[in-house]
Amino acid sequence: MHMNNGGLISRFKDFLPVSDSTKVISLHEGNTPLIKITNISNLFSLNVDLYVKYEGLNPTGSFKDRGMCLAVTKAAEAGSKAIICASTGNTSASAAAYAAKGGLKAFVIIPDGKISEGKLAQAVMHGASIIQIKGNFDDGMALVKEISSELPVTIVNSINPYRVQGQKTAAYEIIEQLGDAPDYHCLPVGNAGNITAYWIGYSECVGHNTKACNLCDGKCQYDSYIRSTKKPKMLGYQASGSAPFVHKKFVDGPDTIATAIRIGHPQSWDLAWSANKESGGWFEKCSDKEILHAQKILADQEGIFCEPASAASVAGAIKDIQNKKIIQKSVVVCTVTGHGLKDTQVVKRHDIAKPIRVGATLNEIKSVISKNIS
Ligand code: F0G
Repeated sequence: MHMNNGGLISRFKDFLPVSDSTKVISLHEGNTPLIKITNISNLFSLNVDLYVKYEGLNPTGSFKDRGMCLAVTKAAEAGSKAIICASTGNTSASAAAYAAKGGLKAFVIIPDGKISEGKLAQAVMHGASIIQIKGNFDDGMALVKEISSELPVTIVNSINPYRVQGQKTAAYEIIEQLGDAPDYHCLPVGNAGNITAYWIGYSECVGHNTKACNLCDGKCQYDSYIRSTKKPKMLGYQASGSAPFVHKKFVDGPDTIATAIRIGHPQSWDLAWSANKESGGWFEKCSDKEILHAQKILADQEGIFCEPASAASVAGAIKDIQNKKIIQKSVVVCTVTGHGLKDTQVVKRHDIAKPIRVGATLNEIKSVISKNIS
């Protein structure tokens, strides 16, 4: 029984390009909570049902695990001994972990600086070979594509079609959790693989859409479960200094505090535009200040600690609910893509209370509590 080890491949095998003999490499990814964020809605009097799909609770702390389990499973199935990716940090952490589990070698190309320590620590601990280049993510991506065409290493960036197939399962879960698709789905957009993946997932669930499916030749069982009556409008949010979709052209030298989405030349350019146009959605930008603010209120109002890039979806949603681009009373889901512990350096950018230093005495501690208890 190869399919029986938990994780999303075993849950969704009818919808994924695997067979009963596929040896699944899983870290029990997926099955993340969909959380209604009522405190933030009340704070801003937002007249919508606002949810967060908390993907930071995946095994390596980001949504990348959904795609990586399938990409690494299929690489191993095809006999590959090594994988490679360019990454702003989360893809490399995930690739390193799944390669470790599957006994493959992982090579990760990361930009010089601007990658959070937590993400780097993950790749180091999982035993990846880390190659730091004097360039940014987009430079790394161009190099990785060439390398994988010359050497026997499988590319596991989201241009690997299995990545997107794995990541589409987040849309399935949301439909299961809500009982239908939401009206709007908000995502932070970097390389644009994830918005592409969600759109595929949502499109497959409106009836049995063989055109969107591409896998089943009419044989899989969409009618049996995970069914929706509609598809959401896909809303993609980018950081202002790194917003090629908003400007409708590639950006050289992208910059933002949200290092995960510091990408000027997204690989899934055409696919993301299709998702945008077919769904009737839009792309919008958020400033670093808006992103940090959303990160802070998710943490101090909802108890959800995410990394800056992830907060872009919530920052954008709040803005577009307030300016009424998002219609009142709608159901809105924001994907919170990565955990806050990935990037603790960014905490010092917030205006936060410092620890209060006192002696180790009852009286001093009691006096601090009395002053602050209100
Ligand atoms: N949020 C986080 C936390 C990410 O790490 C990424 C991408 C995105 C959003 C954007 O997703 O690229 O599919 O549009 N991180 C990649 C990486 C680039 O290397 O970890 P996308």
